[in-house]
Amino acid sequence: MRHTVLTGDRPTGLLHLGHYFGTLANRVKLQHEHTMYVLVADYQVITDRDLPGEIQQHITGLLLDYLAVGLDPAKVTIFQHSAIPELNQLLLPFLSLVSMAELSRNPTVKDEIAHSRQKAVSGLMFTYPVHQAADILFCKGTLVPVGKDQGPHVEVTRLVARRFNERYAPVFPVPELLLGEAPVLRGLDGGKMSKSRGNAIPLSATADETAALIRRARTDADRLITFDEDNRPEVAGLLTLAGLCLGRSPAEIADEIGYGGAAELKKTVTEAVNEFLAPIRRRRAEISEADARDVLRAGNTRARERAVATLDEVRDAMGF
Ligand code: TRP
Repeated sequence: MRHTVLTGDRPTGLLHLGHYFGTLANRVKLQHEHTMYVLVADYQVITDRDLPGEIQQHITGLLLDYLAVGLDPAKVTIFQHSAIPELNQLLLPFLSLVSMAELSRNPTVKDEIAHSRQKAVSGLMFTYPVHQAADILFCKGTLVPVGKDQGPHVEVTRLVARRFNERYAPVFPVPELLLGEAPVLRGLDGGKMSKSRGNAIPLSATADETAALIRRARTDADRLITFDEDNRPEVAGLLTLAGLCLGRSPAEIADEIGYGGAAELKKTVTEAVNEFLAPIRRRRAEISEADARDVLRAGNTRARERAVATLDEVRDAMGF
C-alpha cells in the first residue's frame, strides 16, 4: 500500500546521530516507496521559548542535514510552517474539535512544561499539538514516523480526523503512528542522545571534532570491555553506536576489544563513526546553502497547493 508519509523537525539546532538512527535512516528508505512530506516546523520553535533565535541559520542547517543523509528533493516535499498560511486556517476548526481537558492531559506537553525555562506557559504550548494535526492532515497523511514522545500528538491528530469526519463529512484519513525500530541512542555521557544535553555527535561534525567529542566521552575504570546495558550504560552506549555504524552486534565488538579498556573502545568508536559519516560529509560539501534554500522554496510551493485544496474541502464540508 502506498502511504502519504509526513514527519518533521523543529529547527532548533544540528541533527545528530541519534536522529539519524532514530528516524532519518527510516525516512531515506520510505521515500522510495511512498509519497513523502518532511516539515521544517519553524513555528513550533516558539512553543517552549520566547524567540525563534537564529532561525534562518537553523533552517539552512536542517536542510543541509536532510540532503546530506540522502533525502531526495525529487521524491520528498520539504516545506516549512511559515510558508503555508492555510495550515493556520485549518487550526481554527480543528481547535473546535478538542476539549480543554484533552489538551491539558497530553503527556508530552506536560513534560515540556516541566522542563520549560519560560516564565509563563503560553497558549501555544497547549494548542501546538492541534497545529501538528494540521501539519499531518493538510496532505491527508496516513503514516507518521516519529519517536515515542510524539505518540500523544498523533493521538490528537487521529481524534481530530475522526471528529471532523463524523461532524461534517469524511474528508480525512485517520493516520497511523510508525515507531522507529532502532533503540534510543545514548549520548556520550550515557544519557539519551540529545542536542539540549550537549552529549551528541552532530551529523555535520568534522572527523577531528568527532574524535574530540568521543575522547571526552564518559566510560568506567574496568579494563575488560563488556556489553552490559544495565550496569555499564556509558560503555554500552558507545558499543551500540559503533555497532550501528558498522552494522554489527555491540557484544561482538566488545569481545574483540576485550582487555583493551576505554582507550581501545574509543579508538574503535571513532573509526566506526568517522567511516560512517564520511559519505554524509561528502554529500554535504557538494550542496550550497543557496541550493538548499531553492529546495525549500520548491517544496513550499508544492505543499501550499496541497494545503489550499484541503482547506477548500474543509470549508465546503463545514458549509462556509
Ligand atoms: N513535534 C515534532 C518535534 O518536536 C516536530 C513536528 C511538527 C512534527 N509537526 C510534525 C513531527 C508533524 C511529525 C509530524 O520533533
